[in-house]
Amino acid sequence: GTGKFFVGGNWKCNGTKESITKLVSDLNSAKLEADVDVVVAPPFVYIEQVKNTLTDRIEISAQNSWVGKGGAFTGEISADQLNDIGCKWVILGHSERRHVIGEDDQFIGKKAAYALSQGLGVMACIGEKLEEREAGKTFDVCYQQLKAFAGKFLDAVPSWDNVVIAYEPVWAIGTGKVATPVQAQEVHVAVRDWLRKNVSAEVASKTRIIYGGSVNGGNSAELAKQEDIDGFLVGGASLKGPEFATIINSSA
Ligand code: G3H
Repeated sequence: GTGKFFVGGNWKCNGTKESITKLVSDLNSAKLEADVDVVVAPPFVYIEQVKNTLTDRIEISAQNSWVGKGGAFTGEISADQLNDIGCKWVILGHSERRHVIGEDDQFIGKKAAYALSQGLGVMACIGEKLEEREAGKTFDVCYQQLKAFAGKFLDAVPSWDNVVIAYEPVWAIGTGKVATPVQAQEVHVAVRDWLRKNVSAEVASKTRIIYGGSVNGGNSAELAKQEDIDGFLVGGASLKGPEFATIINSSA
C-alpha cells in the first residue's frame, strides 16, 4: 500500500474506569513509531475519560453512530455528538453489529455517508463468514459490502480521504485463528482492484486497507510485510498496552 500505516484498537464492550486508567497510562508511556496513525475506540461512556487522559498522539474513535441527525432515537449517539466531543473516527459495519445485532448493508452504508458528511473518519468493515469462504464466496461477499459503502459515499459526500477499509474475516475475529498473510493479502488485493474498477485508480492506490481478526504481538510483523496490508484493526490485543504498542510498531 501507499498510505501511512494505520492501527486501530477496538476495545468493544470491555473495560472499567479502573482498567481504562491503566491502559491509558500504558499507552502514554509506550514508545510508538512516528510514521503510524493510531486510533483507539473505547465504549462511548469512557470516551471523555480517555480524551482527558490519553496522549494527543493517539486519536479517538467511536464504535458506532446513528444513521442520521440526532433526535428521538433512544439509546443512540449521533455523528454530530461525536464531533462535538472531539471524537475523530467511527467504526461502522463491524461484524458484531452485522451478525450479532443485525445491521444490514443499506443501514451501514447510510450511517457511513452521514458520518462522513459530518467530517468523521470512517473505518468501514467488511468480511466473510466461514461458510461463505468455504463456498468460495469471499470476494463476492466483500464486493457486496463494499458496494453498499461506496454507493453511499459517492452519492453523499465523496471524501475517500477519511475512509479506511478494514477487512475482517468473521471466522478470524476473537477466535485466535488469524488469517495467514497470504489469505489476507489476497483479499486486500481484491479490494484494491474493486476500488480501481468501481471508484478510481487514485482512490485504489491511496486508500488504507487494514486487516483485523486475531492480530497479536506475535503475528503482526509477518502480516505487516504484505504489500497491501496497510495496518490493523485490533480487538482483544488492543486491551493490553504493551502488546498493542508492539502491533503499532510492527511495520518498522
Ligand atoms: O475490530 C476488531 C476485530 O473484531 C478483531 O478482534 O482482534 O479480538 O480478533 P480480535
